[in-house]
Amino acid sequence: MVVIPKITLNNGTQMPVLGLGTYLGKSEDIYNAVKYAIEIGYRHIDTAFYYQNEADVGRAIREKIDQGLVKREDIFLVTKLSPIHNEPSKVEYACQKSLENLGLDYIDLYLIHFPAGLDYYDDKVQGPLNEKANVRFNDADYVDTWREMEKLVKKGLVKSIGISNFNSEQTQRILDICKIKPVVNQVECHVELNQKKLIEFSKQRDIVITAYCPLGRPNPAEKKPAFLYDDRFIAISQKYKKTPAQIALKYLIQIGAVPIPKSTTNTRIAENIDLFDFELPKDDMSILDTFNTGDRICKFELWANHQYYPFSIEF
Ligand SMILES: NC(=O)c1ccc[n+]([C@@H]2O[C@H](COP(=O)([O-])OP(=O)(O)OC[C@H]3O[C@@H](n4cnc5c(N)ncnc54)[C@H](OP(=O)(O)O)[C@@H]3O)[C@@H](O)[C@H]2O)c1
Repeated sequence: MVVIPKITLNNGTQMPVLGLGTYLGKSEDIYNAVKYAIEIGYRHIDTAFYYQNEADVGRAIREKIDQGLVKREDIFLVTKLSPIHNEPSKVEYACQKSLENLGLDYIDLYLIHFPAGLDYYDDKVQGPLNEKANVRFNDADYVDTWREMEKLVKKGLVKSIGISNFNSEQTQRILDICKIKPVVNQVECHVELNQKKLIEFSKQRDIVITAYCPLGRPNPAEKKPAFLYDDRFIAISQKYKKTPAQIALKYLIQIGAVPIPKSTTNTRIAENIDLFDFELPKDDMSILDTFNTGDRICKFELWANHQYYPFSIEF
């Protein structure tokens, strides 16, 4: 079994430096993937209310606890407040819903999924439409949402709180008013969008960057992302007898990000954790740096006109 190193967060808790993503996938596949991942050493699992798979993730974790393979405290479970719950009056309700879905009595890390909210209609409708079939924005200020997140820590419902898809200015606004600092900002981060500026900004403020889409959401039919098929990238992977995917994940860990690759394929779940028996030296890291194009996969275009849309500034 692989033992994944941990990083200490600004509140003293420890988070494994690699986790399992769970976005997109059939319910049963996610359930099986989480169980297999725990069996081979994953301890950090990432889900969200928005993914509608918290019940599958929770069932898998509880089964492994019941079997005695792990204790609850061994698992670092991350879930997120959906944008339909950004309104401060909805935050505790949403957290209780997630706990109910998961069948757990606390969440290790609860993130504001997105700084820009959507109006609430019901829990199954992730963004109601107005008469022009445009999604209805909710104007809740994420700073007010954050104040409610802090109360969840005090109530013992969550151990740590953080943010996701926040830019540097939005992060600073939270830091300027908070009583409890965000421990993590989870953002898109991979070889083509290495987020070095945001990582440095966050490091100076003791916030860890979790890297979503760490593999650039591979699409083999379109040979994307390009780096996975690049000769220089493949040459580096051959040098260390690793796959290009493993090099992409190791690169992120070495620049200080915490990747959460998603897979529901057992061989890949195992491949993605097999990263801790080699180091990439400076010269190879410098080559990998050159693949940064700054291109984003998840543009969240639906929110492009929202006042809190995060991707209009450099980082
Ligand atoms: N906070 C946010 O707004 C946000 C946004 C997006 C994602 N996330 C989180 O981040 C996680 C990861 O991002 P993502 O799922 O979008 O993208 P990703 O992890 O970069 O890519 C997932 C895809 O890569 C494939 N894959 C996995 N391991 C592979 C390997 N070793 N070689 C080749 N292909 C491989 C998977 O296929 P198989 O499953 O078929 O193996 C799946 O199709 C999500 O699952 C979610 O938990 C958060």
